[in-house]
Amino acid sequence: MGTGAPVPVTAGADRYPEYTQETAMSHEAHEPETPHLAPKIDWSQGTTPYEDYVKADVLTHLQHTLSDDPGEMVFLVTTQVMELWFTVIVHEWETAAQALRRDDVPTALDALRRSRRELEALNASWKPLAGLTPAQFNSYRGALGEGSGFQSAMYRRMEFLLGDKSASMLVPHRGAPRVHAELEKALHEPGLYDEVLRFLARRGHPVPKEVLERDVSRKYEPSRAVEEIWTAVYAGDERDEVARLGEALTDVAELVWRWRNDHLVATRRAMGAKTGTGGSAGVAWLEKRAQKSVFPELWTARSYV
Ligand code: HEM
Repeated sequence: MGTGAPVPVTAGADRYPEYTQETAMSHEAHEPETPHLAPKIDWSQGTTPYEDYVKADVLTHLQHTLSDDPGEMVFLVTTQVMELWFTVIVHEWETAAQALRRDDVPTALDALRRSRRELEALNASWKPLAGLTPAQFNSYRGALGEGSGFQSAMYRRMEFLLGDKSASMLVPHRGAPRVHAELEKALHEPGLYDEVLRFLARRGHPVPKEVLERDVSRKYEPSRAVEEIWTAVYAGDERDEVARLGEALTDVAELVWRWRNDHLVATRRAMGAKTGTGGSAGVAWLEKRAQKSVFPELWTARSYV
């Protein structure tokens, strides 16, 4: 004792029988022994710099549950946490797309690799909802009214960046001008995969004109010529920059597919074949959505390598 090193109460009690809770508390009472090591505590002139940066007070007061059920809180917070991850991932993919436009592959790869970790964290946040029973979900489902993740604009921006564009997905957001404007801008901008294909063309790969000049506000349709390009890339040197780009995109595609499937399974467990709060057929509709391929030629090319 007296070295100044912090001793956990349980460890101390274990190894030194005389080290009781009281000893620990009296030690705490004498904490200011080393005031120069302690954090600053007085921010009486205003809010803390932490609050100014993180806005934790705002963030932790956005949990307005709609029922009295104690299980609703984790449903709401998990949804909010996922919205935050969607926001980070959109930022990463937009960073990657802009970098590719400048032929800056290292910056694009860094952003895509960060997004891989973020997608893993996003997918791990299914955990608290993964075992929801129908009775538990029913306890607050009615309070959600017609609210559904289908109305998530940030998720839609993710899908737009992945090439799954659709003007009709703007309709739910007509009443929210900022959200609508952001989504409309994203609809008319080239997606991440469009930028990849334009980059491949500048690198000398024979990307067809109709792919390069496609209407980017429409869903990306797979092309045999693009499949052949990826086949050639994958048959070549795996350390090549383009091959590494292909693998980073494949990681993204796989993790998006995993999110959709985890969502599907959680939904099946929580509500079986009932219709969704957003008005869809529920699981049957989600099954179809989960089947959609992300960056399709990166998957089909594998059959020919
Ligand atoms: C276990 C709880 C959940 C159930 C039972 C559930 C159920 C559903 C259902 C049935 C749909 C289809 C649309 C509809 O009719 O509502 C849907 C769509 C969707 N949900 Fe969930 N959901 C759950 C949790 C979440 C969470 C936590 C998020 C996170 C934001 C989320 C995001 C989405 C998204 C983005 C869609 C649209 C998917 C697409 O457009 O392909 N869901 N959900």
